[in-house]
Amino acid sequence: MNVILDTGILLGRFLYYLLESVVYKIIPKGKKSIVGEIVLITGAGSGLGRLMAIKFASLGANLVLWDINQDGNMETCRLAKEKGDVKVFAYKCDCSNRQEVYRVADEVKKEVGDVTILINNAGVVTGEQFLNTPDHMVERSFLLNVLSHFWTYKAFLPAMIKANHGHLVCISSAAGVAGINGLSDYCASKFAAFGFAESLYLELKVQKKTKIKTTIVCPYFIKTGLFEGCTTKYPLLLPILEPEYVAQKIVNAILEEQVYLIMPKFLNVALLLKQILSTDMMIALVEYLGVDTCMASFRGRKKADEGQTETERKHL
Ligand SMILES: NC(=O)c1ccc[n+]([C@@H]2O[C@H](COP(=O)([O-])OP(=O)(O)OC[C@H]3O[C@@H](n4cnc5c(N)ncnc54)[C@H](O)[C@@H]3O)[C@@H](O)[C@H]2O)c1
Repeated sequence: MNVILDTGILLGRFLYYLLESVVYKIIPKGKKSIVGEIVLITGAGSGLGRLMAIKFASLGANLVLWDINQDGNMETCRLAKEKGDVKVFAYKCDCSNRQEVYRVADEVKKEVGDVTILINNAGVVTGEQFLNTPDHMVERSFLLNVLSHFWTYKAFLPAMIKANHGHLVCISSAAGVAGINGLSDYCASKFAAFGFAESLYLELKVQKKTKIKTTIVCPYFIKTGLFEGCTTKYPLLLPILEPEYVAQKIVNAILEEQVYLIMPKFLNVALLLKQILSTDMMIALVEYLGVDTCMASFRGRKKADEGQTETERKHL
């Protein structure tokens, strides 16, 4: 009897959510206001982090910018201040260092207040074949691309829970939902970041903290320099994305409280096909799209651009 009742309720809920999504397609959901919110962006010193900071400033949000690269971060700070009458605070922080994340987070709480939108964006890529990847680079990928998310959540989530208000944003990657050759440590760390953010999303739902939102972002390659040299065979299906376009999409997804943002849309089709095609068919598709050779001419960022982390310094 319970099974019949439970299944009936499930089908009813499915129908409700289906109708709701149709209605939102016709009358788009309104965007939330973020005036006066405190937005923390890690890795704000260049690329997506900088572009998002500028966009949030023009929407009236106060900003806390973290980066290991102080010059880049100060430049973002200057550009953001030009955009609006908002407060912008720049901090040097090596997010791969747990103690440093907690120390700088305490400074932020004292000097700025409780962060209400947390964007875990800082990331690094090694881009080597697995056996050529030095151990400390594997550690660096995990320390920054995922473990830093644990520490920032620990630092800022308690105040969000207390107020039942906030937004957690994870910048994962297409490499966080599909394995790509030549990116073993990056893929593994981005899968982990995705899993962490999704798990916390569910944990907060179960705790009925419904006013704390989550957005998980998985873009394909973007022209920021991080994946310099990477190629695509069919740009119409898998384009190398423009940073400005991606940053705007992320900001929109946050304002519309969208949980998943996978870019470009074709990636959703590829992920669906991955579930239903045989592995040989999937490999054929990967080769057809040129994904198997996309890392062949990878150059990435020079170490000097990223600044050396504590972990790297220890190993040099
Ligand atoms: N560029 C792409 O093709 C692409 C694709 C998918 C996902 N992503 C993800 O998007 C995010 C932003 O990447 P981007 O393309 O803007 O790259 P980017 O290199 O322009 O920006 C990364 C920022 O992180 C900072 N950073 C590096 N190490 C740090 C550390 N230890 N502590 C604090 N800051 C540190 C860098 O100084 C830099 O400002 C990353 O998480 C990346 O993995 C990028």
